[in-house]
Amino acid sequence: MNRAADQPEPNPLREGLSARAVPQPCTIVIFGATGDLTHRKLVPALYNLAADGELPLAVEIVGFARRPKTDDEFRSDLEEATRKFSRQSVRDEIWKNFAQSIFYHQSEFEDESGYKALAKRLDEIDKSHGTRGNRLFYFAASPDQFEPILKNLKNAGLNQTCKGSWARVIIEKPFGSDLASARELNSVVRNSFTEEQTYRIDHFLGKETAQNILVLRFANAIFAPLWNTHYIDHVQITAAETLGVEGRAGYYETAGALRDMVQNHLLQLLCLTAMEPPTDLSADSIRDEKVKVVRSLRRWSHNAIATEVVRGQYAKGAINGEPVVGYRQEKNVNPDSQTETFVALRLYIDTWRWAEVPIYMRVGKRLPKSATDISIHFKKAPAVLFNKDSHDLNVLVIRIQPDEGISLRIHAKVPGTSFRIEPVKMDFHYGTSFGKASPEAYERLLLDAMSGDATLFARRDEVEEAWSFIDPIEEAWHAKKNAPELFFYPAGSWGPEAADDLLARDGRSWRRL
Ligand code: BG6
Repeated sequence: MNRAADQPEPNPLREGLSARAVPQPCTIVIFGATGDLTHRKLVPALYNLAADGELPLAVEIVGFARRPKTDDEFRSDLEEATRKFSRQSVRDEIWKNFAQSIFYHQSEFEDESGYKALAKRLDEIDKSHGTRGNRLFYFAASPDQFEPILKNLKNAGLNQTCKGSWARVIIEKPFGSDLASARELNSVVRNSFTEEQTYRIDHFLGKETAQNILVLRFANAIFAPLWNTHYIDHVQITAAETLGVEGRAGYYETAGALRDMVQNHLLQLLCLTAMEPPTDLSADSIRDEKVKVVRSLRRWSHNAIATEVVRGQYAKGAINGEPVVGYRQEKNVNPDSQTETFVALRLYIDTWRWAEVPIYMRVGKRLPKSATDISIHFKKAPAVLFNKDSHDLNVLVIRIQPDEGISLRIHAKVPGTSFRIEPVKMDFHYGTSFGKASPEAYERLLLDAMSGDATLFARRDEVEEAWSFIDPIEEAWHAKKNAPELFFYPAGSWGPEAADDLLARDGRSWRRL
């Protein structure tokens, strides 16, 4: 059987959800190459892959941006950034070799001739470096540049491939700012690239423990019978950060925590936690199941949004004992800003499996610690022999970060002559069990894109469904009449009291992180 150009060779050596594919030689063109993402994440990730010997021999990197710069200047900027942000410390001889694969291409995003010159340069690189005409275009530029870049790539013929080669595009978030703009962007992308060529990145999906959710659920027989409304009391998902807006006010003021984190990262974690078993591990089987979860989320009326969703903004306070300013006092933030830096929600997935199981989610900046986890709180055991006075539940915690791992809280007898019962933890830590550091999310995702494996990238319908869930909340918050209140919380606290009330009225509380 002939293998299509875009279908990678199976690779028994690569393990993963569905990725049994080999990353192929290619040129990675990064649009927005002088920006933060390239320096903090993308190039350090590529360096780590090179240092670990994970990259194919021929991988060249072309940075595309407006500022004039030579290849050498670009290389030295990236070296400084990689030394600062890389997961492993930079080894001189590896960097020297790696840096030889980095080039800079200066052009305006709107300038057609810049893309013609790019096409020529890519052809030359193919000839001299053996990148076989394979191109990975990474959109790390600001979203208002996506359309001209896409149009110009198409006009320069760079969306097409010759026989046996491929062209793919990785698009960073935010993917639109509501359903209408996401649809519009999807159709703009579609004018230049097919869905199979399009990789919408959500870096949370590349996190080791996020990937492990499916393994935990579907490689172990013990959880499956319990994973439903009969045994689960409720689920909590928290993504807490001590960081504030960190010089990103321009973007954050137009986004807020709901668009920045819930629409993508948190809903993706929820999908992995709640989805039905896929029929196989192909990208589409998994994504078919994920999209059903978002589609089944109960939609709220305007009035219900005030009771089911809490929004907050940090005021001045202290993080790790250091005083910090409030959000409204941050640089480039409107002093009357209504932007939320915290959201808590109570969700329901209206399916047989999840009927009436509350899912509580919270996400916020300037919280007391940085931690992301998912906890499954099981129903109380019958209060017949034990548990008469205890309200403790068995809790399975999936720690996405830091200290990646999984723990299970069970009840145990305290040693001694009396029958005192206390909760104890069975705990698995990635670090100690496997003795090696997990790769950064971007490492995994870049390799997947080079391998043609889209499993950990969001499909068009997933993104649109997620926006269709988010839009009514944003509309309610921005309504002229009866908009739900924006609560303030001191930096360094766990958010506004209203977030605690959301659970307290169900007789529950947030798990202590
Ligand atoms: C980004 C958000 O997508 O994720 C940021 O835009 C947030 O606001 C970040 O800080 C969190 O990612 P991580 O991997 O640091 O938890």
